[in-house]
Amino acid sequence: MNTKDIIKEAELYVQNELKKDNTGHDWWHIDRVRNMAKRIAEEEQANLFICELASLLHDIADEKLNTSEAVGIQKVDHWLINHHIDEETKEHILMIITQMSFKGGNRPPMTSLEGKVVQDADRLDAMGAIGIARALTFGGAKSRVVYDPSIQPRNELNEINYRSNDQTTLNHFYEKLFKLKDRMNTRLGKQIAIKRHERLQEFVNQFLEEWHGLS
Ligand code: ADP
Ligand code: NI
Repeated sequence: MNTKDIIKEAELYVQNELKKDNTGHDWWHIDRVRNMAKRIAEEEQANLFICELASLLHDIADEKLNTSEAVGIQKVDHWLINHHIDEETKEHILMIITQMSFKGGNRPPMTSLEGKVVQDADRLDAMGAIGIARALTFGGAKSRVVYDPSIQPRNELNEINYRSNDQTTLNHFYEKLFKLKDRMNTRLGKQIAIKRHERLQEFVNQFLEEWHGLS
């Protein structure tokens, strides 16, 4: 199978797998991440095939879609074996997906250039207007309120708070989204993140101004 056919197969596989999901891992998120990863990969002269395939498969192993993360990784492993991806490429893609799925603040840095590219693309999709829409959608799906002035925003990402339902969606901006700008890996990723970070900030500022009847 040539690389074009493998990418096509991966698209169909991912579309089918994500049909079951309502947690923000929809196909169009994957498609945007893939397109952004290709754009960054070109500038970074990273391996385009690895960036594209890892982007397409990056949320398949997510714990929300599997009984455990290990089971999710195994699923990707089998898919890569069935599609005769050479051992080195397969291990590289599995490493990227494993490193991307670490939750919480103490994430080890991505070790490969292709991993850095895909991680930047995924992070950018949590920022800007799209990031705002995704956060509000996620919060709604979890029946969370957008804001509650009696709950102080916490900017420490804590696994227990993160999962609990007493968190507001606005808190997610403080605990995660505002921090992404300073965690970008690539030049282009950093550049785009600056603009998208401003959009996040403007949204929260305007939201709070209106909440308090100031403008
Ligand atoms: P991904 O790696 O695809 O961004 P996540 O599961 O981390 O996957 O998040 C999916 C989307 O849901 C992102 O846009 C993220 O900002 C949003 N999200 C995750 N957790 C929360 C939360 N607690 N409140 C609001 N939005 C959230
Ligand atoms: Ni993602």
